[in-house]
Amino acid sequence: MSLLGSISKESVIGTAVLGCAFAAGLWAGSRQSSSHTGFQGAKNTILGSNNVLLQYLLENSLREHPALKKIRLTMEHPYHFMMVACEQAQLMANLAKLIKTKKALEVGVYTGYNTLNMALLLPDDGKVVACDVSEEYANIGKPIWKEAGVEHKIDLRIKEAVQTLDELIAAGEAETFDFAFIDADKESYDHYYEKCLKLIRKGGIIAIDNVLFGGRVLNRTNDICGQVLHDLNQKILRDHRVNMSMLAVGDGLTLVFKL
Ligand SMILES: *[C@@H]1O[C@H](CO)[C@@H](O)[C@H](O)[C@H]1NC(C)=O
Ligand SMILES: *[C@@H]1O[C@H](CO)[C@@H](O)[C@H](O)[C@H]1NC(C)=O
Repeated sequence: MSLLGSISKESVIGTAVLGCAFAAGLWAGSRQSSSHTGFQGAKNTILGSNNVLLQYLLENSLREHPALKKIRLTMEHPYHFMMVACEQAQLMANLAKLIKTKKALEVGVYTGYNTLNMALLLPDDGKVVACDVSEEYANIGKPIWKEAGVEHKIDLRIKEAVQTLDELIAAGEAETFDFAFIDADKESYDHYYEKCLKLIRKGGIIAIDNVLFGGRVLNRTNDICGQVLHDLNQKILRDHRVNMSMLAVGDGLTLVFKL
């Protein structure tokens, strides 16, 4: 069975992205075999998915909400590797809670695992603006958002994420968001970073996913996505507007703290 045959072009995060998504998918697809442990989709670029310590870590640290688990288990789709690592989502939830997040941004929704994760921790009048170009996968998560009673906190905007972010800036919402998560097409990562940096307040956090990109940041020959991510990693390291940490969780996670 081919990964490539089972998905329509429009349904990945944007047509320009296909090169990255396919390449990453083929890479990740070859090492997804941890479902027998109950942690379907477990992944870690440094340790490898089948690492026994990673399994130990998951078994001894996950406190996954039943609704989140339900979304995770819907993922028999060949693209389930696009979902955020669950231990990473839990870390982001703890951080978002720590800084008393009321407004969150989600750049790249996929089936809405992390969108739900954010909605669950927000106060009842909080909101998460969730951006994606396709509603196809979000439709898998939507009934579960509703079941969990948090659907009213989710503002799903189906269009190019850059456009949604620009609209928020134009509407005067700069410096009003507390937390942003970037996990969409890699070519646009720099734009997402700059726009999110405008939208979050001082002391707010941007979490950027896939910053190691399965190791592709090491060998950037003929690899646009590896190069884009490497350039952004270097830029953030030197960015005086923020403090930062890069963590070896999932496929690499950079946390940016706005000064
Ligand atoms: C880097 O990637 C290029 C293109 O895919 C490949 O030809 C080359 O062998 C790779 N180099 C290393 C050190 O992996
Ligand atoms: C954060 O950035 C400020 C300003 O550059 C710097 O003074 C401070 O030491 C940094 N904190 C950490 C933990 O890196």
